[in-house]
Amino acid sequence: MMKVSEAVASRRSIRAFRDEPVGIEVIRRVLDRARMTPSGCNFQPWQATVLTGEPLKALQEKMLASSPQDPIEYSFSEPNQSPRHLARLHKVGASMYGALGIEREDAEAREAFTRANIFSFGAPALLVCYFERFMGPPQWSDVGMWLQSIMLLLREEGLDSCPQEWMSLYARLIKEHIGVPDETHILFCGLAIGHRDEDAPVNRFDRDRVPLDEQVRFLGF
Ligand SMILES: Cc1cc2nc3c(=O)[nH]c(=O)nc-3n(C[C@H](O)[C@H](O)[C@H](O)COP(=O)(O)O)c2cc1C
Repeated sequence: MMKVSEAVASRRSIRAFRDEPVGIEVIRRVLDRARMTPSGCNFQPWQATVLTGEPLKALQEKMLASSPQDPIEYSFSEPNQSPRHLARLHKVGASMYGALGIEREDAEAREAFTRANIFSFGAPALLVCYFERFMGPPQWSDVGMWLQSIMLLLREEGLDSCPQEWMSLYARLIKEHIGVPDETHILFCGLAIGHRDEDAPVNRFDRDRVPLDEQVRFLGF
């Protein structure tokens, strides 16, 4: 049985999946266990639809034939205005594109890889995560915890994932496809689910983290 620390350490955002299906049983087991995620006031704001096979393929074809929506669903790039945070994005981008062998100046190849989000990097299953529009920042945080529970429980099952806020660029199209009303629900992100391709360099580059003492202060110890 995998320890929690092993699940945390071995989880990474997978951007090359093996062509191997994931059964409903394992996904149901993971989602059933993830129900015990905590949430403020026990609101449990998270909702999701999981797609595979034909419904997933049809969604991908629709996204491929469309452009990102205007106006956007929500902004996920505000922290780019802070040089400190923009530097973190640049660093992980440089590592990822370096692993892919894509040059810094090659905007076309970078954009092409970004669009691989449409196909969830080859994952056989996609969880689409949304919730009611009246939820506020505390509930967005609850939803993040739920997604982390899922990602760690997937590791215990030998499975991998990649969260995909990029999917929010196609939020209305996706909601229409899965029959979720746009008026009442905001789409947060996708979660690609599948088996990692161990050999793919894009799954092997180092991801930087801020040192603990820059993030957390300890008082009174
Ligand atoms: C809520 C959320 C949304 C994300 N959206 C995307 C995305 O749309 N596409 C993508 O390739 N990675 C996405 N990521 C992955 C992050 O880039 C990744 O978590 C970060 O670079 C740290 O790397 P790691 O997950 O491998 O540890 C997302 C991560 C989170 C938590």
